[in-house]
Amino acid sequence: MPAVHSRKAVAVVGFGYIGAVIGAVLADRGYDVVGIEPNERIRESVRAGDAPVPEPGLGELIAEAVSEGRLTITDDPAAVAECQTVLISVGTPLTATCNADTSQIAEAARAIAPHLRDGQLVMLKSTVPPRTTADLIAPIVTETAAVHVAFCPERLAEGRAIEEFRTIPVVVGGVDAESTVAAAAFWREALDVEVVEVSNSLGAELVKLADNLWIDLNIALANELAQLCDKLGGVDVLEVIHAANTLPKVEHNVNILVPSIGVGGYCLTKDPWFVHAMGADHGLDLQTPQVSRRVNDAMALYAAESIDETLREAGGGKRIAVLGVAFKTDTGDCRFTPTIPVIKSLLEKGYELKVHDPFVEGHEAECDLPLALEPDLAETLKDADCVAFFTGHRQFREISTEWLAGQVRPGALLFDGRMYFSREQIAEIESFGLAYKGVGR
Ligand SMILES: NC(=O)c1ccc[n+]([C@@H]2O[C@H](COP(=O)([O-])OP(=O)(O)OC[C@H]3O[C@@H](n4cnc5c(N)ncnc54)[C@H](O)[C@@H]3O)[C@@H](O)[C@H]2O)c1
Repeated sequence: MPAVHSRKAVAVVGFGYIGAVIGAVLADRGYDVVGIEPNERIRESVRAGDAPVPEPGLGELIAEAVSEGRLTITDDPAAVAECQTVLISVGTPLTATCNADTSQIAEAARAIAPHLRDGQLVMLKSTVPPRTTADLIAPIVTETAAVHVAFCPERLAEGRAIEEFRTIPVVVGGVDAESTVAAAAFWREALDVEVVEVSNSLGAELVKLADNLWIDLNIALANELAQLCDKLGGVDVLEVIHAANTLPKVEHNVNILVPSIGVGGYCLTKDPWFVHAMGADHGLDLQTPQVSRRVNDAMALYAAESIDETLREAGGGKRIAVLGVAFKTDTGDCRFTPTIPVIKSLLEKGYELKVHDPFVEGHEAECDLPLALEPDLAETLKDADCVAFFTGHRQFREISTEWLAGQVRPGALLFDGRMYFSREQIAEIESFGLAYKGVGR
């Protein structure tokens, strides 16, 4: 059996968002990382020492790793031959029938298979339907060599990806016991984090989907509590949630998340549908994924109605300054952002919108925005009847209320879609003669 090149050499197949974060952090931890990526723009960006996607801290790590020769990138799948560990992080988009499209994973597995050697570890990081690792990937990659095969769900959140990848516990499950041991051993050495071994790859695959179903459903609960608080009046949903969360329950406290104008991103909007489709394949009509998606998808329209209603009650006004398009604070990520349906609904209701997002500027085409972004904050706010905060970017948190009050129409409405202003900040807003409305507050 030919020896593999180096125990500390890792191939990352698919150097998109997740692959770039994993590759950069492993290189920073002393590994020799080779990215395998068909997209030329990404390869050029990495070779130039730049992050292929916007993510705080990623550019610095990539620049350093490339300059020190610990990170290289190629489109040649034969590069896996030199690496003890092969991580697969290609995309798994949703198909028209809400199933995961596993074609990129299968294609990647077929491309690397002829170059694998006995004893290597092939670990899948992409989010996949249960049994994909054992039934789709293992048969392809073990055909040519006796490799270990495992699944390791990626659970980091964009915007804090580097820190989270370095700190959150890693879950692994192999297609057999030796594969689980090999996968756990890799992460114990690679990262200084807790490693949780589950019995098999099926269990590890379900962990990722269970996490995302819990998050989506929990946010749906917060969003419906917010709607109830809006109807009751005289109550702040954030105060209720904060106090409710003090109740100890089994090992942890109740932990209700926060309401907003909706859920965005690639995973939370997709994974509950994976779960639902899987249930349907097994004769189940699972309710919770449908409920969470229905409630959270409806929040965009709810927010538009809430702005419309509040403005009408306050005597009207047509000019709305929208602050934030990205779904996630301090990022330009607009994938499935709920801000777009709110914006479209407000336009349909006849409002005149100026939209500002410093992170999204220049990427308007990628997010289906129906109007051009306004690059200047003061110009966006000028004489507005309503300022709608849809994203909690730090640039927006730094705006002084006094300055803002001087830009907008006297008595304008501040709609809080994701800023979570404190009671003190709301009192300050009102002291400048502005009106405040939040989701459930
Ligand atoms: N983005 C997130 O926040 C996040 C979080 C957790 C899990 N995930 C999961 O991680 C996976 C990757 O997500 P992403 O956001 O990085 O997607 P992405 O689209 O940014 O990256 C995927 C990359 O794979 C490349 N690719 C496609 N086919 C390939 C092949 N045959 N060989 C090599 N490379 C190939 C693409 O060119 C692309 O650059 C998905 O399954 C996703 O659900 C994503």
